[in-house]
Amino acid sequence: MSTLIEIKNLSKHFAVNRKLFGAKKETVKAVDDISFKIEKGETFGLVGESGCGKSTLGRTIIRMLEPTEGQIIYDGTDITNIKGKELKNIHKRMQIIFQDPYSALDPHMTVKEIMSENISMLGKKTEEEQEEIIVSLLNKVGLTASDMYKYPNEFSGGQRQRIGIARALAVNPEFILCDEPISALDVSIQAQVVNLLSDLQNEFGLTYLFIAHDLNMVRHISDKIGVMYLGKMVEIGDSDEVYFNPKHPYTKALLESVPGIEPENILDLDRDIIDGDIPSPLDIPRGCRFHTRCPYATERCKTEQPELYDYKDNHKVACFNCL
Ligand SMILES: Nc1ncnc2c1ncn2[C@@H]1O[C@H](COP(=O)(O)OP(=O)(O)O)[C@@H](O)[C@H]1O
Ligand SMILES: [Mg+2]
Repeated sequence: MSTLIEIKNLSKHFAVNRKLFGAKKETVKAVDDISFKIEKGETFGLVGESGCGKSTLGRTIIRMLEPTEGQIIYDGTDITNIKGKELKNIHKRMQIIFQDPYSALDPHMTVKEIMSENISMLGKKTEEEQEEIIVSLLNKVGLTASDMYKYPNEFSGGQRQRIGIARALAVNPEFILCDEPISALDVSIQAQVVNLLSDLQNEFGLTYLFIAHDLNMVRHISDKIGVMYLGKMVEIGDSDEVYFNPKHPYTKALLESVPGIEPENILDLDRDIIDGDIPSPLDIPRGCRFHTRCPYATERCKTEQPELYDYKDNHKVACFNCL
């Protein structure tokens, strides 16, 4: 297997005003010193509570956001600082599918117009050629030729997400950032969309970064899973390994509500460790960021930040108590 994307010590910080009219700028470390690889053809699942930095990480990787520090290597090329035409060319190879298919599609454009925009990125085509491509893509995602003349509001949420997927496929991408593509959909159709994404991955050899706030959602589709907490990766490994043998107390907490998991894999204490709100990203706790919510926290956890270490092959965890 070869690597498609490698992230080295990637950070993305935002300068914000803490108070509405406050002059003093503060820094939100939305993504803080993260390193990992995504292999060609695999799905990397990224999970964590809302606000932990998943979208920021994904968007920085595809250079929709400027990285603050670190490096992004795409298919052997350092794309961290590329601009202009070079960046445009890389963007043809990467696409994004958004959580909310309602706001992601312009309501004033027909499906044909929406898709033509992307198709024309690959060079000039006659109207006939364009329509041919559109029909073939619509069929691939389970829609029909006549859907091309409709507007987004004439479709259901699931169908709209299928249009978003067809639009992403229109540039023949290698990599798709799927940013919570099923979180806004009815539970009854989530599996259909996941299955569609999975079929398309096999057919086109796509690589996915699949973001979800629920570990159970990404488990089936992911080869590897990364768990984020407050801008940091706290556990990373093969999907089954992270799911069936979670090590970080935060990962265990994320799995707590999942039915069908053996209790010994969850917690050996009968306590709800995910108690308490996620701290403000402006006041990131010293030491291990999770220590304020962790029942196993020791003095060391309050002062020293654990790095990701190899728990075993293809399984890393950032926790002193998992050594
Ligand atoms: N453009 C921005 N300006 C300032 N802060 C931002 C911006 N985008 C995201 N953030 C902050 O960065 C943190 C991570 O956000 P996000 O990546 O959207 O998390 P997630 O996708 O995991 O819900 C949050 O605290 C969010 O408020
Ligand atoms: Mg998000």
